[in-house]
Amino acid sequence: MEKIVNLCKRRGFIFQASEIYGGLNGAWDYGPLGVELKRNLKNYWWRVIVHERDDVVGMDGAILTHPAVLKASGHVQGFTDPMVDCRLTNQRFKADQIPWQSGTVFTYEFARDAMPSAAAFEALAYLAETEAQPQINKKLDLSDSISLGLRIVERRRLSVPAPTKEPESIESFFLALGTELVRNPQPGWEEWENRFQSGYSVPERALCGDSFRVLVRARESESKARKTAQAFYQKRGLRLPVVILQSKQPIENTRDFNPENGAELTPPRAFNLMLETHLGAVADEASKVYLRPETAQSIFVQFKNILEVSRKKLPFGIAQIGKAFRNEINPRNFTFRSREFEQMELEYFCRPEQGMELLEYWKEERLKFYDDIGISRSKLHVRNVPDEERAFYSKGTYDIEYDFPFGRQELEGVAYRTDYDLKQHQHASDKSLEYFDDETKEKFIPHVVEPSAGVDRTVLALICEAYSEDQAPNDKGEMEARTVLRFHPRMAPIKCAIFPLLKNKEPLVVKAKEIVGLLRPHMTVFYDESGAIGRRYRRQDEIERDSMKQERVKTSDLLQLLSMRIA
Ligand code: GAP
Repeated sequence: MEKIVNLCKRRGFIFQASEIYGGLNGAWDYGPLGVELKRNLKNYWWRVIVHERDDVVGMDGAILTHPAVLKASGHVQGFTDPMVDCRLTNQRFKADQIPWQSGTVFTYEFARDAMPSAAAFEALAYLAETEAQPQINKKLDLSDSISLGLRIVERRRLSVPAPTKEPESIESFFLALGTELVRNPQPGWEEWENRFQSGYSVPERALCGDSFRVLVRARESESKARKTAQAFYQKRGLRLPVVILQSKQPIENTRDFNPENGAELTPPRAFNLMLETHLGAVADEASKVYLRPETAQSIFVQFKNILEVSRKKLPFGIAQIGKAFRNEINPRNFTFRSREFEQMELEYFCRPEQGMELLEYWKEERLKFYDDIGISRSKLHVRNVPDEERAFYSKGTYDIEYDFPFGRQELEGVAYRTDYDLKQHQHASDKSLEYFDDETKEKFIPHVVEPSAGVDRTVLALICEAYSEDQAPNDKGEMEARTVLRFHPRMAPIKCAIFPLLKNKEPLVVKAKEIVGLLRPHMTVFYDESGAIGRRYRRQDEIERDSMKQERVKTSDLLQLLSMRIA
């Protein structure tokens, strides 16, 4: 993945959004080559789904969405992810992405501060008779306190063991010092000895009553648990926490701990993924609108209008390509999980009895599509989503998954959504969304099968699929490593690169430009006359040339030959 991400940046496929300001997590900008690749994908989807079919029409809906739409669809109440936070670092995770872990759980009951309180510190200073007389607001410093303590021990010849750096040992040192001062009173100093004694008593020191758990996995040291707990209590205001262990127990297959540091996670809370904004000058509840979390809802909401204007009969579909927004808890794996992304969605309406059959049909159509854009079938997997994972209204869902370098992940969902969405909108809007069948004279709410694909995920799959490394000769004929993106010609951002052999040979340049003029109206053409020819080739290889085969063709045959190969 690292090589792919670097190549994407270096050659202008994909950049981090707002990069010069440190980047915006979950948002990406497509560069000159990326935008071509993305357009080729979207155009081909549109061609196959809309232009080449009689039974599908397109639409382009607004991103800003009335809250009522998303209330009716169930998104306002239910479009949530379970979210957990690390109690130590506040890092946020999706609960279902936490790996199952085993090990030993250390439970800490509470912690108290081993640092002397201000009153105890003041007494220490008097007892040590330092030249610097105690100042009321002197910042408490542990090393000052210890050196004062050690000085008292030495001066009074007390038998108190010197402390180490551990909070427990520092606490024992001060507690022992207090006891010894009581046993060996010094005339005139009793008052300060008492003050130290009570200033260092447990009730006078800071305490944190929160309990905290840490997971220690096999082969990790136990001291890690204590250090993690100390860090936890330090975050809660203790400067030198003495942690109190309650229990230590083996545990198997838990998701309650941060996989990175073993710290306990909060219980899962529902986090709504929708992004909202406000229309108009006043940002209040009444002006709130959402950025759509999927393109599908505008299709359902416009179902009746489109049915009327297109005069389609069931089964028929409405297709849309456009942006969608989700406030993902953990955007990751490059563009795979973003907060702003594009979807290519088809809502294919049908009679209830056709639903299951059309679900199979669309799954097969979609697999064929991926084949046609050069995604190898062996890397695609169809997952029949089990009942317990499916939306309650869906009677069947397939996930089409791809073997990305970071694992097998969803590219597209093909779902039979029954009549749920149209029913919800009919009920909430009080407008009929029924279909009237001329032949049977029946009126009913159509069912829908929805193939919903991610543009960005498919672009990423195309790049991962195309990426390869091999050996090729350089200018001097020596073999060297070469990176090649073997895109399907249909998807390749540039279809043809034209290089005159030499820049200063007029007839070559004239001819090359003539060919550019011939091809440019029909395809994306790249012209380059500068630098060594070998290097110009190699730069092109990296973004999309695979074989180095040479063929001679007549200029007059070129357009037809290239067009055929691209199609
Ligand atoms: N209308 C149905 C729907 O939106 P989904 O499974 O939530 O279903 C469909 O999304 C597709 O949209 C996914 O298969 C994926 O390709 C893409 N997608 C969803 N969330 C995404 C995200 N955060 N980043 C990139 N693509 C995403």
